[in-house]
Amino acid sequence: MAELTRRGLLTGGVVAGVVALAPAAPALSARAAETAVAFHGPRQAGVATEPQAHAVFVAFDLRKDTDRDALARMMRLLTDDARRLTQGRPALADTEPELAASPARLTVTFGFGPGLYAHADAKSPIRPLPRFAVDKLDKKWSGGDLLVQICADDPLTVTHALRMIVKDARSFATVRWTQRGFRRAAGTQPSGHTQRNVMGQMDGTANPRPGTPEFDLAVWRPDGTTQLVVRRIRAELETWDAADVVAREFTIGRRLSTGAPLTGTREQDPPDFAAAGAHGFPVISEYAHIRRAHVGDPSLRILRRVYNYDEEVTSQGHADSGLVFASYQADIERQFVPIQKRLAEADLLNEWITPIGAAVFAIPKGCDEKGWIGQEVLS
Ligand code: HEM
Repeated sequence: MAELTRRGLLTGGVVAGVVALAPAAPALSARAAETAVAFHGPRQAGVATEPQAHAVFVAFDLRKDTDRDALARMMRLLTDDARRLTQGRPALADTEPELAASPARLTVTFGFGPGLYAHADAKSPIRPLPRFAVDKLDKKWSGGDLLVQICADDPLTVTHALRMIVKDARSFATVRWTQRGFRRAAGTQPSGHTQRNVMGQMDGTANPRPGTPEFDLAVWRPDGTTQLVVRRIRAELETWDAADVVAREFTIGRRLSTGAPLTGTREQDPPDFAAAGAHGFPVISEYAHIRRAHVGDPSLRILRRVYNYDEEVTSQGHADSGLVFASYQADIERQFVPIQKRLAEADLLNEWITPIGAAVFAIPKGCDEKGWIGQEVLS
């Protein structure tokens, strides 16, 4: 300030200098507030939140001696990290506090696997998925006692939050797997637009809409909890590339250009599953993905909050790419399992996709300023 005053006096710009500085601080903090997603509330953030551009899903195995008391200590610590980082404040003992300053819509969502309930001597509300005919599951991408889903519009924010969480979980748990995913970069398409996946399809069209009674019925249980399925699904992009547009659209039952059903012209037109073509065959195939996946009862639908993944390309030029398929539903057994069963039995898309990982987690309810995530389970 002394420096500023001396220079100000010399140039006569002290008043201008102060005036110029004054609005800068509120403008910055207003921006931070805009990009912070509320952490506290009856339900955890990161479910109904419009999907951020980047995500990492990290699953942990609990150490043998992590009992109910230890779990409560761990969740207090991790909740504290999440409540600070999501609001643009450094975690306790943050070694890079500068990296916390831009929350970029960061959400940190916690999930409990069946194994966590066993450690806590509590009854698990979920159980592992049955084996489906299409599964080629790798242990490397499956299971886990504790899940943390970290999403933000900035990949550096995601990385920093991941590091803080992993550090604080270290004495209670070891990392089992991490899966990184991405959607279109923030700002490259208007909010509310359906994203495209690595296969080029518009993905998410028929999802329940947050803020509607249908969404609340399908996704949330009355106690504010929900359930998550994470499946790593590899896309066989080389053979997909060999299919022509007609075959690709027939496979899904929707157009690639607009995402409209084959029986309509606009993305949100409802598919007419009864419509028949010139030769009497259904326009949307009996085996099209959207017909097999469709659920009539809105309360039995699922919320797909999927991310793309894209790992190393082999020296032969083969991509390792696909979806980190994440779906939220009030009840995995009633909602997800029947859909996945139908898809495993018959879905033209099966020719080009392979599930290689699977995990399930119960998502505890949210908490207030004084509480912590999992309190009702662990205390
Ligand atoms: C790599 C894997 C997958 C790809 C590329 C994919 C792609 C798509 C696409 C393009 C649509 C149409 C647009 C939309 O409504 O989003 C769709 C719809 C849908 N998919 Fe998938 N999907 C995949 C896996 C799954 C899985 C594993 C499930 C559940 C078990 C699933 C359930 C659904 C449902 C419920 C719909 C909406 C159907 C309706 O119109 O009512 N999908 N998917």
